[in-house]
Amino acid sequence: MCGIIGITGRDDAVDGIVAGLQRLEYRGYDSAGIVVGGQELAYLKRAGKLSNLTAALEDEPTAGRIGIGHTRWATHGAPNDVNAHPHLDPSGRVAVVHNGIIENYQALRASLGDDVTFASETDTEVAAHLVARELAAQTTPDLLAAVRTVVAQLEGAFSLCFVAVDDPDTIVVAKHEAPLIVAHADGVGYCASDVAALIAHTRDVAALLDGQIARITPEGYEVVDVDGNAVEPHRYSVDWDLDAAEKQGYDHFMLKEIHEQPQAVADTLRDRLADGRLHLDELRSDEGEIARIDKVFILACGTSLHSGMVTKLAIEHWAGIPVEVEVASEFRYRDPILSEHTLVIAISQSGETSDTIAAANHARDQRAPVIALVNVVGSTLAREADGVLYTHAGPEVAVASTKAFTTQIVGGLLLGLYLAQQRGRMYSSEIGDILQRLQRIPAALEQVLELDPQVANLAERYQDAPYTMFIGRHTGLPIAYEGALKLKEISYLHAEAFPAGEMKHGPIALIEEGSLVVALAPAGHVFGKMVSNIQEVRARGAAVLAIGTEGSVSDLKAHADHVLTLPEAPHELAGPVLSVVPLQLFSYHVATARGEDVDQPRNLAKTVTVE
Ligand code: F6R
Repeated sequence: MCGIIGITGRDDAVDGIVAGLQRLEYRGYDSAGIVVGGQELAYLKRAGKLSNLTAALEDEPTAGRIGIGHTRWATHGAPNDVNAHPHLDPSGRVAVVHNGIIENYQALRASLGDDVTFASETDTEVAAHLVARELAAQTTPDLLAAVRTVVAQLEGAFSLCFVAVDDPDTIVVAKHEAPLIVAHADGVGYCASDVAALIAHTRDVAALLDGQIARITPEGYEVVDVDGNAVEPHRYSVDWDLDAAEKQGYDHFMLKEIHEQPQAVADTLRDRLADGRLHLDELRSDEGEIARIDKVFILACGTSLHSGMVTKLAIEHWAGIPVEVEVASEFRYRDPILSEHTLVIAISQSGETSDTIAAANHARDQRAPVIALVNVVGSTLAREADGVLYTHAGPEVAVASTKAFTTQIVGGLLLGLYLAQQRGRMYSSEIGDILQRLQRIPAALEQVLELDPQVANLAERYQDAPYTMFIGRHTGLPIAYEGALKLKEISYLHAEAFPAGEMKHGPIALIEEGSLVVALAPAGHVFGKMVSNIQEVRARGAAVLAIGTEGSVSDLKAHADHVLTLPEAPHELAGPVLSVVPLQLFSYHVATARGEDVDQPRNLAKTVTVE
């Protein structure tokens, strides 16, 4: 949550910061602000979206060769102008922007004494006061040293970025459990929360590790630990370009990302088979270790959790290992029973979700090996895990996750097959055959995307449905959860998902004349059961929108008001990759019909780096 960017050494630093903030706005859009450094600090900040700040910048042009910017997802203090970042110390000599939470900010505020007044209600402002006090106490101003001293006093999760008039060309950043990357290209120093903000300038970046602090100048950057010892950040190159981070003619990033799914899935599947065997090289796994696994925990949040539910089915089916899927924020606060024979799979698009990272750490504390199924290369989860499987979906900008989800499912299928292979549960020829069949998914996805006009019509018709129930069984159930989540988060309509067989145990009482039920009824071994469950809700007055598969839709058409027909999936376990797409499109079209902000839904942010 919250996006940070800093630039030093460019005449048009402000333009670069604003362009970077545009790419970071997905991280939060409660307010935005900028401060330009040098011999004095000039700042501007506005509540609301970045467009409010850019409008203000037109009225009050601000220029400089060094500056830092921020886009906020509010935690402490209302999302107004005053609480917007940057925050300055009372003398206006130090400015800070911050992503995360400084948990002991009240104690730190108190330590400054009663006569110190604070302009905002934020946890952040105290950091500017403390750094200013340190600088004032130095004989030769050294922003890096001042930040080191202050960071040692902070508790919580944070990435912080400072400028100060006493050290006018320098940006100092500190990272602890919130992402921060630094870069240097063509005589300009950069920092940002996410590589998307810097991709226009360079693909070579370095991710700071927890406890690292960096001094960034136009000459380059140096990274130290809290004691001032030189340390190495994680340097890497990004394999996508600026084009991938643009809308490319689509009205919204979400729509573009829905349409990118055939390519994204093809990229996830690429080059996995060699010499008749499935290779997942990034896993760095040991065959003996895999043979000894007796339990798998899948940990994730939100959409990633739903993909984990499909992964569970794949691992149990192919590898024969018991799997539990758990919300990361719950797992981290209980006493799960794990050992070195428990494999933990942490799934995350961003690789920066703090609940998932903390849950993975909790598992590692009990010696369980952790595999990260992650999209963002170089992210914290990817770096800290014992092994990683990248989904190769490319940058996902829309808050509502789409292509990350389908590629996670494909990644989960690969993991299931891989575990089966390494444990000798399946013949290589069988695995090779399934992999061959999975190669048909991209073409099938293209076919599913052709349903778009039909889905748009249905969305227009049901755009005001006050309550939508999604039901499914087996592979349809995770998709029911995902369909309901998509509808809630971007259209703000009430939607819930239930296992279709559970309806009769309570939820069916909610059905009345005209209720909308979306039923996942693709071909598969539970198809007949789904048809019965559809009849049960229809008999009680529900309008049913069924998602079915060529070959079995004639049975569905007799029982549902509307049927969307999917091509046959190359494998029953791959079905969810196809069946989720009409639901992504449905939520997209409902939200646009209702005039909602699809890419930046209220109260949400893409990367959730707070608890
Ligand atoms: C919903 C959505 C969220 C994320 C969740 C986890 O569309 O995007 O539910 O799936 O916040 O994020 P990652 O996958 O980055 O860990």
